[in-house]
Amino acid sequence: MKTYLLNETGPASNLNLVETDMPHFAADEVLIRVKAISINPVDAKTRSGKGIFGKLKEEMPLVLGWDVAGTVEAVGESVTDFQIGDDVFGMIHFPGHGKAYAEYVASPASQLAFKPMNISFEEAAAATLAALTALQILRPNISKGQKVLIQSAAGGVGHFAIQIAKHLGAEVTGITSTKNVDFVKSLGADHVVDYLETPFESLRGFDFALDSLSGEFLEKLSFTVKDGGTLWTLPSGANLKDLAQRLEARSVRLGFHMVQSSGDDMRQIADWLESRKLQAHVSQVYDFDTLPKAHESIESGRTKGKIVIRL
Ligand SMILES: NC(=O)c1ccc[n+]([C@@H]2O[C@H](COP(=O)([O-])OP(=O)(O)OC[C@H]3O[C@@H](n4cnc5c(N)ncnc54)[C@H](OP(=O)(O)O)[C@@H]3O)[C@@H](O)[C@H]2O)c1
Repeated sequence: MKTYLLNETGPASNLNLVETDMPHFAADEVLIRVKAISINPVDAKTRSGKGIFGKLKEEMPLVLGWDVAGTVEAVGESVTDFQIGDDVFGMIHFPGHGKAYAEYVASPASQLAFKPMNISFEEAAAATLAALTALQILRPNISKGQKVLIQSAAGGVGHFAIQIAKHLGAEVTGITSTKNVDFVKSLGADHVVDYLETPFESLRGFDFALDSLSGEFLEKLSFTVKDGGTLWTLPSGANLKDLAQRLEARSVRLGFHMVQSSGDDMRQIADWLESRKLQAHVSQVYDFDTLPKAHESIESGRTKGKIVIRL
């Protein structure tokens, strides 16, 4: 089968498309014939030696990728939930070695859900890591009627976060640039702030704010949260101790969570996708043999919704 191998960290051109053996799958795993893969910032970060490379470096060469949708080709002997021919989707082994940049991937059955029939493989692949992140952060941290602020509202996590925060009953504000204002409104945001027109740090009174940029952006976003509220940051690797201590004086909680593979959460996402309460916006689709171009695109930090590879 065709697989992208990463023998050495570096630019996108280090992703080598080669022939490899089919993956082995354990008794509790299924073998998936991959139809679509989504690309995240962590894919490109890990490829260049950052992201979760530290956790994976002992396993070089790596097969990157975590977000898949496809069809079950074979099932391990203890798998009861899925059968050959089922269409499934999920985020495999995150934060671990997902090995999804391949024509076939082995996945624990416990990390998958059935793909809703009314959405495409591309939309399903898109609604995995980014959607799980938004769900796993927002569900325990916000409640009905709260004022919620989402930065990078047009991005992968942001566009799901706007929709999920609305389902959870929040009054939702998204921050984005001029070109994406209408898109963020179309996701259901109650208010949209164009950061090119309005300094977002001038906003005040939010119960919860979600940062996606870290560093000085996180510092500035902290002023938007009211005393006793919650500030959450997505990027990993930042030293949050100083800021957390300063925020303690205002009883503002600073949180970070690394998204985790979960079949239960995938089933929640699948339900919402099926009922169209949640929609994945796929802005760019690449063929498998141009996957490195998708890495270059995600590294721009300017993509809208999700970018996906079709096999
Ligand atoms: N902790 C975790 O488990 C976890 C999980 C997922 C993602 N993450 C991290 O979270 C971050 C965001 O991920 P993502 O997948 O959402 O990224 P993404 O899809 O690449 O985000 C792109 C979006 O960011 C927006 N953006 C860029 N600069 C901005 C600014 N100054 N103000 C407001 N919006 C801005 C862009 O909109 P404009 O073009 O309109 O500016 C674009 O739509 C990444 O660092 C990622 O690694 C962490």
